[in-house]
Amino acid sequence: MDKLVIEGGVPLAGTVAISGAKNAALPILTAALLTDEPLLIDNVPHLRDVSTMLNLLMQMGVTTSLDEKGGVELRAASITKPVAPYELVKTMRASVLVLGPLVARLGEARVSLPGGCAIGLRPVDQHLKGLQALGATIDMAQGYMIARAGRLRGARIRMDIVTVTGTENLMMAATLADGVTVIENAAREPEIPDLAACLTAMGAKISGAGTDVITIEGVARLHGAHHGVMPDRIETGTFLVAAAATGGDVRLTGVRPDTLDAVLDKLRETGVHIETGVDWMRVKANGALKAVNLRTAPYPAFPTDMQAQFMALCSVAQGTSRIIETIFENRFMHVQEMQRLGADIAVEGNTAMIKGVDHLQGATVMATDLRASASLVIAGLIARGATTVERIYHLDRGYERIEEKLSRLGARIRRVR
Ligand code: UD1
Repeated sequence: MDKLVIEGGVPLAGTVAISGAKNAALPILTAALLTDEPLLIDNVPHLRDVSTMLNLLMQMGVTTSLDEKGGVELRAASITKPVAPYELVKTMRASVLVLGPLVARLGEARVSLPGGCAIGLRPVDQHLKGLQALGATIDMAQGYMIARAGRLRGARIRMDIVTVTGTENLMMAATLADGVTVIENAAREPEIPDLAACLTAMGAKISGAGTDVITIEGVARLHGAHHGVMPDRIETGTFLVAAAATGGDVRLTGVRPDTLDAVLDKLRETGVHIETGVDWMRVKANGALKAVNLRTAPYPAFPTDMQAQFMALCSVAQGTSRIIETIFENRFMHVQEMQRLGADIAVEGNTAMIKGVDHLQGATVMATDLRASASLVIAGLIARGATTVERIYHLDRGYERIEEKLSRLGARIRRVR
């Protein structure tokens, strides 16, 4: 299994290009199931989760081809096997995103229940409740959800909790329903308007994506389209925090600063200087970092996917920081690993208190999930001496060539196979 070995203590400096967003690319790839015409998608990041999704779609009969610029063409001329097997769903929960499109187009889907997940329970009850409201019947057998329907019919759906992939699944399903669907208490994450833009290019009629009420007027069929995936706001935030935490000066290109307000506010509170343009940003450390308090919540509040990385920064900030995690019940697994590097962190329930220490000291640590892995890389970049991050397959799920990008900013980091 690959590891990363990091010699910490180098302030990052230079320019880094940000990739397309994983969490936008995954639902957009599944949108290809909604039409028999080709869907061409640009700016698709080269990631393990993207290959997993492409494999899943190919197993269903979708043909795919790649161009060298990262563009992917998908064509679901006929779907031979509307099944998402356990082997794939257990490695990537986002596989559940095939459910809505399959039921809408074919009236049939068999998707494995995701099962346990390192960061918490993560049920899919809201996806199912919404599909039932649209007229699907759902049965459970041998660990699979089996959804069936004739043509779906539009409905008013009030989500009990804000769910990102739940909103995406129902938005996709409703595009081909008979009549109007209104999704209330919808997630407002920027990846949702990006998916809506792709669906609109395919002929869907959607308004309100990006707000908490989305209205979809069903159409009889969708057609092929060409769409570019938005920049990854979590990769952007990860590089911003890495630059700030190492006392660096980094310019990021190909970004969408307007999708990172909560993260930028918190970074500024730590004392770093940030400049933004339409599609670039520059972060420059400005003396010692100050402690901050933050609380994760659905967009536009502070993202849970940036919580672990901020904790690494807080571990060496002056003063005591408080981080409250409200989205996932078990998302502090990086804490024990950071403690092994010398961080002073106490956890009670969903609250972590982080007393800034003078420095971290390198050690061997183990990554347990995607964003926890990123936080350990940042901790390794700050620490004195060598840090080895094990089990980095989690990192490869969501960060494109992270060690290459960090090396170009001066980090001493290498992958050991
Ligand atoms: C998406 C993101 C993930 C991010 C998360 C929260 C993708 C592919 N993944 O995951 O990176 O961390 O949003 O911003 O976009 N819940 C239920 N019932 C449901 C659905 C969700 O109780 O039917 C709960 C979950 O357990 C969790 C909360 O709702 O506590 C939010 O989860 P959700 O927004 O659905 O996360 P994902 O869409 O899986």
